[in-house]
Amino acid sequence: MRIGIDFGTSYTAAAAYVDGVVRHISFRGNSQFRTAVFMPEKPVDTTLFDDTAYDQAVVSNQASASIAHSKAMGDYEEAASKIRVYYRTLAKDGDLTEEGAKEQISLALSALKKPVPPSPEAIKKATLAAAKRDWVQQQLDQGRTSSVSIDESAVFGEEAIEEFFSYEAGRLIQSPKSMLGFKLGAPQREAILQIVSNILCHIRRAASDQLGVDVTEAIIGRPVLFRSSMGPEGSNQAVRLLEEAAARAGFKFVDFLHEPAAAAITYHAQSPDANRTLVVDVGGGTTDITVGLVGGHTEVPHLEETWGLAKGGTDVDLGLSLRTVMPIFGKGQCSLLAPVYVNAAMVSDLNRQKDFRDTKLTGVPAPFQKRLLTLQRNGVTVRLNRDVELLKVALSNDAEAGVSLDYIESGLQASATTSDLECGYERFLRSFDDLLSQVSKETAHSRPTVVFLTGGMSRAPYIEQAVRRHFSTVQVVHGDASLGVVGGLAIHAARSMWLSKVQ
Ligand SMILES: Nc1ncnc2c1ncn2[C@@H]1O[C@H](COP(=O)(O)OP(=O)(O)OP(=O)(O)O)[C@@H](O)[C@H]1O
Ligand SMILES: [Mg+2]
Repeated sequence: MRIGIDFGTSYTAAAAYVDGVVRHISFRGNSQFRTAVFMPEKPVDTTLFDDTAYDQAVVSNQASASIAHSKAMGDYEEAASKIRVYYRTLAKDGDLTEEGAKEQISLALSALKKPVPPSPEAIKKATLAAAKRDWVQQQLDQGRTSSVSIDESAVFGEEAIEEFFSYEAGRLIQSPKSMLGFKLGAPQREAILQIVSNILCHIRRAASDQLGVDVTEAIIGRPVLFRSSMGPEGSNQAVRLLEEAAARAGFKFVDFLHEPAAAAITYHAQSPDANRTLVVDVGGGTTDITVGLVGGHTEVPHLEETWGLAKGGTDVDLGLSLRTVMPIFGKGQCSLLAPVYVNAAMVSDLNRQKDFRDTKLTGVPAPFQKRLLTLQRNGVTVRLNRDVELLKVALSNDAEAGVSLDYIESGLQASATTSDLECGYERFLRSFDDLLSQVSKETAHSRPTVVFLTGGMSRAPYIEQAVRRHFSTVQVVHGDASLGVVGGLAIHAARSMWLSKVQ
């Protein structure tokens, strides 16, 4: 059996095409898992951790968050009232028109950040995570480690981040795909190979269990351009590393397919009519586009051209983090320069993370020094990054959003508004706009009539709006944002296997 694997920067999925149906491989009940692995240096049996022992701490943190929120609201109201009085006085004195005063008030109020309280559920989660972290440390201090081997104790997905946060020692890699195209020293290369092969082995085992055969063949999706520090050579290195990792994971055959081509196959299988279609996949790490005749009754879609941009949702996270979360750690308010905060925010770059952890904090004033010291502890930047991503996702629907940063400081919160999001995505959207302009020019001779949108970022309204700015007359079809690529990979895998047998 040959399966399709969508090894994504943010999420990974796998599927097989069996008897004309795409069968998704399930990971803890979900058809995808976060592309993160944690391997503890010394595993602890975390099933012994008892959540209920911390009920009181949860209630008390919820109460202090509520007090902190009331205080922040009080400060906000006071500042807002000062703004109103200031401009109204100017208007009264004739230095400003009534209209002008209203405008200035509205501008100043929107720049002032209204505090958003985190949900009680979020506070509970943060409290339990912090408690578990202390508990694991106690177990390790008392020498109570588990007998399970390091490789067998590897934890994948969302749980990897939780577990990493709990341990002081171990290795977590999130979004390893983002590193495959970068210059790597021998130890880093080996570490990344080990992590990626662990992920592929996890997939191979799950697929073999669920399909009832030993799965040893796969088609792996690849972006048109990998994120890279070496230009196109970075993409070649990434593919070679994936091949080596797959062999270590027990795969005997692997081949690759461009991710937007796979998404085109998914749409081809769904659409009874043939349309000139632009397929746009905006993921966590890269943005990939292809164009061609898709749908109808031909065996396969006829694709003509592809374009790739090595940027995606994680770049929006970085922008949002620098805008709204890093100031909580002193960005722009102390002697540390902006690159220190970029290092802290770029969690998939191991060198930058090390540089951040090694940053000296002498002379940094309160309360930033203590917060930064906590952020320098193992796993905390990754956890913070996940909270920034939560803010970004919430802001796709809501005008404002908040998360609890109790694990940094009791009662501490981060909040963001649509205008923060706009600053956060500005750089990414500029690149995305440039790419769409180029695609629009290069398809001017034969305009697409349909745009098939997929990738997690396609859930963000600003992505569809950008597409519509460049392709105003097309029909936009939303594919499954998470599974638009893997289905096509599975269909291609089955067909390529069949072809190899009949040839
Ligand atoms: N509702 C949402 N609003 C905004 N962004 C979202 C939403 N849902 C998911 N995302 C973002 O989509 C991205 C993940 O998309 P996807 O799963 O397609 O990426 P991937 O396949 O792992 O990455 P890539 O294909 O680039 O390697 C993340 O940055 C995630 O935060
Ligand atoms: Mg993807």
